[in-house]
Amino acid sequence: MTDKPERIDDRYATPEKYTTLRGIYHDARRRLSDIDWNYLSCGTGDEVTLRENTAVFDRIRFEVPLFAGIDNPDTRTNVLGFDLSFPAFIAPFGGGEAVFHPEGHLAIGRAASAAGIQQMVPVAASHSLEDIAKASPVASVFQMTFVGEEAAALDMIERAKAAGYSHICATYSPIRQWRERMMEDRFSLRSENGPSNFGPGRSDPAALKELLAFTKPRWTWSQAADVIKRSPLPCIVKGISSVRDAQAALDAGAVGLYVSNYGGRTIDRTPTALETLPAIRKAVGKQVPIILDSGIRRGSDIAASIALGANAVALGRLIAYGMAADGEDGVRRTLELLRQEFWTTLGHLGCSSVDDLNEAVLSNGATSINLQI
Ligand SMILES: Cc1cc2nc3c(=O)[nH]c(=O)nc-3n(C[C@H](O)[C@H](O)[C@H](O)COP(=O)(O)O)c2cc1C
Repeated sequence: MTDKPERIDDRYATPEKYTTLRGIYHDARRRLSDIDWNYLSCGTGDEVTLRENTAVFDRIRFEVPLFAGIDNPDTRTNVLGFDLSFPAFIAPFGGGEAVFHPEGHLAIGRAASAAGIQQMVPVAASHSLEDIAKASPVASVFQMTFVGEEAAALDMIERAKAAGYSHICATYSPIRQWRERMMEDRFSLRSENGPSNFGPGRSDPAALKELLAFTKPRWTWSQAADVIKRSPLPCIVKGISSVRDAQAALDAGAVGLYVSNYGGRTIDRTPTALETLPAIRKAVGKQVPIILDSGIRRGSDIAASIALGANAVALGRLIAYGMAADGEDGVRRTLELLRQEFWTTLGHLGCSSVDDLNEAVLSNGATSINLQI
């Protein structure tokens, strides 16, 4: 990208409804019922990993150079062949995102497109993968759990390809998660919000039950490798949290790695994604694209993730807050504010572009997080 970046508006006095991400968060909390809020916010077990996911970013300390001569840093980048206005994707969060707004991923996709980033769409979305692809010009990565018959998984990949998706994000989910807030609430998705990609009709309750019942056989790495190699679309693998699995994913033919603990929603007392990242980057080298999520709430979190080895981040709950607060407009504003925060962080760190972010922007305080190097 050689052309000059557009100047990002940095006025405090804006006519926008929301001036900060904090304002969007509070509005989302106010609008959602306690039960829906718990569904969105909960983790598993004692929620240690959930808390650590954001706390680890709070422990990051930056070193700010003086007279670095930066006035309009370039937030743009390219990851997996996608030009992004800043290094972010929409995370594939589903299983009833229409709880937060009836337009779900349709609205998210339109907002992501306006913001210049790409959208990952979950198999468990409230709208069908085809409807989302029609509504969203940036619905490019289709997330699916590798489960059941291999042939059925390959059929689903063909279906995603036919709808226009360019990549698959493979996930693994062995057994029901221990989410106590949802258990105490006796949470159950209203059928109109359930997944649309299964069964004869939309939001088929039987299909939802099957999806959540974990009755289908779970896969080994060799089955996953077989499907990745036969897939007509390139695959990235999500849920990487160790060098061993990073290597296994690349050996299986993955074109990128997605370092994530699913926002602390799978099993408690696992390391944060940020802590596992440096060792994974060191092991796989500079060329492998790495996306990271779990705990991204601010532009400075994006900068820290890239400084420690990611190429881009993915946004989960942050997008749900925007959607719950104000639908498509809330997501659009969330992305705009996040990009502005990232922009001001880059500038203060003396970085004229995303490529300038590396460990040198972290002061010694950064070592107070438990980096697995
Ligand atoms: C309500 C909700 C539903 C989710 N559903 C899925 C899903 O269907 N597939 C998936 O791969 N990840 C799912 N995730 C995980 C997100 O894609 C992402 O990894 C996580 O939200 C990142 O953490 P953060 O929200 O703290 O940023 C879900 C997350 C939330 C909050």
